[in-house]
Amino acid sequence: MKRILFLETNTTSTGAQAMKLSKEMGYHVHFWTNDPSQYDSIKYDNPTDLADEIKVIDTYDAAKMIKAIKNEQIQYHGVLAFDDYHLMPAAEIAKKLHLNGHETKSLSLVRNKNLMRDYLKNLIDKSGFYQPKFQTINEDHSSHLYNDNYEFPLVFKPIDDSGSNGVRICHNKNELIEAFNVEKERFLNPRGYKLQRSWLAEEYISGDEYSAEMLYTKEGWKLVSVTLKETYGEHAIESGHVSSKSIKPIPDIEDRCIKLLNLFNLDFGAAHIEFKLKDSKPYLIEINPRLAGDYIPALVKTATGVDMVEHLLKQSLGIDAKINFSTDESAAIKFFIPKRPGIYKKAANLKEIMSYQGIIQIDTVNLPVHFTQAKSSYERIAFAIAKAKRPETAFKAAEKAISDLRWDVSYSN
Ligand SMILES: Nc1ncnc2c1ncn2[C@@H]1O[C@H](COP(=O)(O)OP(=O)(O)OP(=O)(O)O)[C@@H](O)[C@H]1O
Ligand SMILES: [Mg+2]
Repeated sequence: MKRILFLETNTTSTGAQAMKLSKEMGYHVHFWTNDPSQYDSIKYDNPTDLADEIKVIDTYDAAKMIKAIKNEQIQYHGVLAFDDYHLMPAAEIAKKLHLNGHETKSLSLVRNKNLMRDYLKNLIDKSGFYQPKFQTINEDHSSHLYNDNYEFPLVFKPIDDSGSNGVRICHNKNELIEAFNVEKERFLNPRGYKLQRSWLAEEYISGDEYSAEMLYTKEGWKLVSVTLKETYGEHAIESGHVSSKSIKPIPDIEDRCIKLLNLFNLDFGAAHIEFKLKDSKPYLIEINPRLAGDYIPALVKTATGVDMVEHLLKQSLGIDAKINFSTDESAAIKFFIPKRPGIYKKAANLKEIMSYQGIIQIDTVNLPVHFTQAKSSYERIAFAIAKAKRPETAFKAAEKAISDLRWDVSYSN
């Protein structure tokens, strides 16, 4: 029997899609998790239902899992992780079992944003990107915060979290110290990942924000689609995206992204490169050595016909996968983030909105939601996906769908 091992999964469905596809391809799906109950709130395609076998184990402890695999005497044909925090243990297991996976050294350089910044500092001319001025802040050096000179606005962020957790745009020293004091008390992220005790203070880069969705192939890295994103509030929560091959922030974007990934010796799977365009120059925000979250792979599939999940899955299993662009459209997602505190009980008119031109999906998270403040992407409680020929048209359709939602809500003030 052919088997594949999934270390945890994510909440934006790419992990579940890969599980379904694995089963269709005849693989026996093993799902290892710290705690199956963390998936209780997933409405559709719950990984605990899709998996053939579930094992509860510390999925942050690669050595323990390697030992468990030895004891089981089971042969796996692939191992995959879909969230940032399990990429490293998955890579370590893959290496030990001689399966396809990330080079751990390269992975570490991009997973830790401070290492990425330091590494690029000396290679920036070769990278095709610019980067903001930055400073690493360690817990033991925190007293410097009060004395050091910073230029504002700046972006304060943890080096190894994601989903905009702990990210704060600071306009003055007080805000920086406040952000640091809040972060200092945060030891675990919402996925139970033990955060490192380091942060970055980065020059704030103004301008439009994009991401490049890349796949590794036999011929090296390829650009599949470009995504333009919208962010919201002082925590820069991603509130919408539109993806299309026709979005061209700079003419040579594919070459630059290939150069960048090659500099880090990344040679596996997918990459989601986030950058901002300032004075027509691309400034690197981060390299995510994985598929994008936020339903972006679904947008890419709608817009280009390329199934990035399938490509990644096949590559991890050692099956040759080709990129085949079969459509030339645009697809957008817009999230609903409440503006007023309250209990959001129901969105009444989802069916009606589904009939709007271009809308292909609209849904909410499990309701009711008690909303107080928008601090991270966990406060996005509904989303709409739309498709159109042009990026602007797709984004406008998704925006309209979200703004037309009729909420049943009890406001707190
Ligand atoms: N130096 C910067 N200048 C301007 N904006 C920035 C900078 N760094 C981060 N941001 C904004 O904050 C957002 C989140 O930052 P970053 O991507 O580093 O954190 P994250 O937690 O990994 O986010 P996510 O997982 O949502 O992509 C970015 O998408 C961008 O909008
Ligand atoms: Mg990011």
